[in-house]
Amino acid sequence: MEAKPVDAEQFKTGMRSLAGAVSIITSAHAGRRYGMTATAVCSASAEPPTVLICVNKLATTHGAIAKSKLFCVNVLRADDWELSTSFSGAQTGEGRFKSRDWAKLATGSPVLIDSLASFDCRVVNKLLHGTHTIFLGQVEQVLLGKKGKPLLYSEGQYAKLASLTLGEPLPEGLDYWGF
Ligand SMILES: Cc1cc2nc3c(=O)[nH]c(=O)nc-3n(C[C@H](O)[C@H](O)[C@H](O)COP(=O)(O)O)c2cc1C
Repeated sequence: MEAKPVDAEQFKTGMRSLAGAVSIITSAHAGRRYGMTATAVCSASAEPPTVLICVNKLATTHGAIAKSKLFCVNVLRADDWELSTSFSGAQTGEGRFKSRDWAKLATGSPVLIDSLASFDCRVVNKLLHGTHTIFLGQVEQVLLGKKGKPLLYSEGQYAKLASLTLGEPLPEGLDYWGF
């Protein structure tokens, strides 16, 4: 079958089927706090501990990360979908931060109290690609919250896991982080 060039709409439709965990990426620059909702977040390496994020160049948080070379990934709980909405456009600037408590760790980026986990990072590499910049952040500090279900995003909607378990547990030491 002859392949046709992929247009952005086709790409986005396919990507909507890729369920993702929702985080809030924060940064701070020149005394101001910045933050945005993101699903393009993943573990890049365990040694050294490194997180990868993809940030649209038009997002206000992009400039803060590029200038400060700092960011924090705050992994959201299933109940936090309204916070996600605030950080994806329903609120702007400082208004995004007002409904919750925030702290600072090693880098000074805002850290969400009661996230599932927060990864406080210093940018060690970046790649400009199309509409986005891919930042690699070395994790300088981790805040672990109490265990809970993550907030997911799938087919343009927020979702949560019906259950945290499916199938048999993987044998001891053979789960993903065992490698
Ligand atoms: C569920 C969800 C996931 C998102 N993931 C990303 C992402 O990974 N990268 C990105 O650049 N924007 C992502 N966005 C869009 C930004 O959150 C949105 O553009 C944000 O408002 C930009 O900030 P600004 O309004 O301060 O410019 C996502 C939005 C939603 C609702």
